[in-house]
Amino acid sequence: MPKAASKAATKATDGFDLTRVGPGTIMGEMMRQYWIPAAASSELKADGDPMRLMLLGEALIGFRDSSGRVGVLDHQCPHRCASLFLGRNEQDGIRCVYHGWKFDVDGKCLEMPNVPPPQDFKEKVRAKSYRVREQAGLVWVYMGSRAEAPPLPMHEALFVPEQDLTVTLLQREANWLQGLEGDIDTSHFGFLHAGHINADDFEEGHPARHTVANRAPEYKVGDTEWGTMYGAFRPEAGGKMHWRMAHFSLPFWTQTPNADFADHVVAKAWVPMDDEHTMLISIYGGRAKGATYSSSKLKSGSGIPGADKLDYLPNSTDWFGRWRSVQNPRNDWEIDRAAQRENRIYTGIRNIVIQDQAVTESMGPIVDHTKEHLAPSDIMIARTRRRLLTVARAFAEKGTVPPGIDDAEVFWKARAGSFYADDKVDWLDAYQQQLKAAIRWPAAGQQAAE
Ligand code: FES
Ligand SMILES: [Fe+2]
Repeated sequence: MPKAASKAATKATDGFDLTRVGPGTIMGEMMRQYWIPAAASSELKADGDPMRLMLLGEALIGFRDSSGRVGVLDHQCPHRCASLFLGRNEQDGIRCVYHGWKFDVDGKCLEMPNVPPPQDFKEKVRAKSYRVREQAGLVWVYMGSRAEAPPLPMHEALFVPEQDLTVTLLQREANWLQGLEGDIDTSHFGFLHAGHINADDFEEGHPARHTVANRAPEYKVGDTEWGTMYGAFRPEAGGKMHWRMAHFSLPFWTQTPNADFADHVVAKAWVPMDDEHTMLISIYGGRAKGATYSSSKLKSGSGIPGADKLDYLPNSTDWFGRWRSVQNPRNDWEIDRAAQRENRIYTGIRNIVIQDQAVTESMGPIVDHTKEHLAPSDIMIARTRRRLLTVARAFAEKGTVPPGIDDAEVFWKARAGSFYADDKVDWLDAYQQQLKAAIRWPAAGQQAAE
């Protein structure tokens, strides 16, 4: 095979392995080793309607029983496969409406009322079920096969008391990886979100000023115990360096740098519903509490088109009916061409979150990596793809346990944000110094990690 052709073939294989998440795929199996946030706890009410839940290409139902426990089961009844979505959620179990078989949150068959008692074999039947936990206002699912599930990942945001957290869900009609890559692609900020803003519009010292003062930052990138990290740097007067540092954490988490490092607590999960739909779950906590500079006022009084309240379509019971944006591919994300032309909003699309949504959905459901031309500004993306493939293939081929499963505390070591440092200090040393000085949340979590 000519060299160019074989390179393209490798890229195509890599692209497939990176993006497919169903049962038996290498990325899907790697992800199943981790706890996965799947829904907001508030979506499931005791004895309320069962909810269709698509997760990693598996059609499941979620329900909360009379005692408040959450069950996540294969949606097909193990009798003759009618959907338990139609089921009656009653008296600590879900009852299939076809022949009345009833299952508890662990999938145990409690009753088999259409079978004469002597022939009842309910002890031998189980609905396929996954283990569930609730933390940070979210329902977490473990889809792996360990007899004892691993601990939850120790993201700093998960230690913040629930009342101090802002948690949002938003569905994206695209593959999980292209969504995630938007978060670790820092150079887009100065265009997609702030292309219409000049540095002079910002007060001196504003954490976002650098993103427009120099729209082509340089980067440091490296592998970490929890995934990968980058530091985008811009030299400043007086021997200072301005840094924006951010992380990818296995298997699908990001921490974005859009606030001051000292008190910025964020964890964002790009949870694959299937190969072509993703649930973005954003958890903000700590003092910054989601106050990123996206909503900051500028000197002129205008703002970066902010992370305004999202406009959601009403949820439906469809497999992909939850947390959908009013601005979506079918209405071109409500792009305002006049605002674009007059440079009031660089994209013409309101809401910073939907700007990200629009560009990544506009690529099509799953990007073909063989068509790309990665630039030096994409080194974090290339590095993260490599890290994902290495971990997933090591697990598939040798059973190597992925990072952060048995050592959940590694995630505690990741913190994102912007800061100034002496320009002679190495980037990782500067990071460690900042981490030591940062306000961490809470001390209990810190102690657990030490
Ligand atoms: S298919 Fe569910 S009880 Fe028969
Ligand atoms: Fe963005």
